[in-house]
Amino acid sequence: MRSYRAKMVEPIRLPDREEREAALDRAGHNVFNLDSDAVYVDLLTDSGTGTMSDAQWAAMVQGDEAYAGSASFTDLEAAVSDVLGFSRIVPAHQGRGAENVLYGCLVEPGDVVLNNTHFDTTRAHVVEHGGEPVDCPVDGALDPATSGDFMGNFDVGRAREVVDEVGKERVPVVVVTVTNNSAAGQPVSVANVREVRAFCDDIGATFVIDACRFAENAYFVREREPEFADASVAEVAREQLSYADACIMSAKKDGLANAGGFVGVRDDPSFDDLFERAKQRAILYEGFTTYGGMAGRDLAAVAVGLREAVTEEYVRDRVGQVRWLGERLDAAGVPVVQPAGGHAVYIDAGTMCPHVPSEEFPGQAVVCDLYREGGVRGVELGEFAFPGTDRPDLVRLAVPRRTYARDHLEHVVETAAAVADHATSLAGYEVVSEPPMEELRHFSAELRPLT
Ligand code: F0G
Repeated sequence: MRSYRAKMVEPIRLPDREEREAALDRAGHNVFNLDSDAVYVDLLTDSGTGTMSDAQWAAMVQGDEAYAGSASFTDLEAAVSDVLGFSRIVPAHQGRGAENVLYGCLVEPGDVVLNNTHFDTTRAHVVEHGGEPVDCPVDGALDPATSGDFMGNFDVGRAREVVDEVGKERVPVVVVTVTNNSAAGQPVSVANVREVRAFCDDIGATFVIDACRFAENAYFVREREPEFADASVAEVAREQLSYADACIMSAKKDGLANAGGFVGVRDDPSFDDLFERAKQRAILYEGFTTYGGMAGRDLAAVAVGLREAVTEEYVRDRVGQVRWLGERLDAAGVPVVQPAGGHAVYIDAGTMCPHVPSEEFPGQAVVCDLYREGGVRGVELGEFAFPGTDRPDLVRLAVPRRTYARDHLEHVVETAAAVADHATSLAGYEVVSEPPMEELRHFSAELRPLT
């Protein structure tokens, strides 16, 4: 049962097929280059694209725009402390701003950073500071055909092997990303986080949780980890985050806001120095420590959004909607990673287009055809986005929070089913122009279909 209704609407339209073909050509067959008014259902990302509540909009009107000592910052501090359990925060304009602040304090050249799976901006910030990002996903996490309850977990065994190889002095930071966006949005258990805590104590590393989707993760934990069967989502979230020394947050996800982020630092004297250094870096890169690149009204929206994100009605509807989409796509014969993650359904484009080799981007072929068929925008997360990493060729359909209704998603299912029907006739693609940094190519490269 949906726990909200619309009271403001935004017109959208489905351009006709000819317009869609022309728009795709103009965009160089890269959907990042499409104008959003040419898109009917936009599943490019769940980041900052959701709908805020009336309570968030009301709080925004009262946002305190003071440069220093904003009351909205105090509200945000209280919300983060209540919901995530970190009473010391450094605000940032969005998640990657928080990453720059935190990893700039923690990572030195030559360091190795371990993560269940680095999200692309996380990887880039580790590299930017001279570190080497190493992924420690559990076996099968990157295989679309493998399913399990906590396929997002961090493989501590693999991490110990890395430490044995490079020495613990070189591993100052261990990160767990919940949910694991780069592994099909799969959740991480509390038991796993406890294991990572013990591992960090053993090797003397700082334990960071990337908490972007902490509420969705907590929902899965309650559902799948028997110890938490009777807990509230809010309790699970607090418990899970209580094991970390610090967190980074993109408030554009489970902050239910259109902008914002922060670093949270454990209130313990051993992290006083980290907190002070993070604040100094934030002043340099983000803004003064009581706004961090956010307007006062954004601070206010996040403060309310975080509290809404752990309400039962909200998160049940949220995870339920994504699950529904995954089940319907599966029933319609579209190969998807099962079970669906918290924020997105991942189509297995490699299986859908077995005739297109990875280097001809089967994921991009599916992305372009979803747009051509039904004005639906997804994103390729395979060889085009992550060149040379041997990741499976997936297409992510990320669902913005509280935004689309079931009939929009029915349209997505019908569109994807039509694409699946003729997938064996889809052509692969080649890149015709790309930016200098290969890691960032999927944002702006142009492609052409191979005939
Ligand atoms: N960490 C994770 C796990 C993310 O998914 C993202 C963003 C970030 C950090 C960076 O946050 O965008 O606020 O700077 N993910 C978006 C996505 C962009 O589409 O998955 P940001």
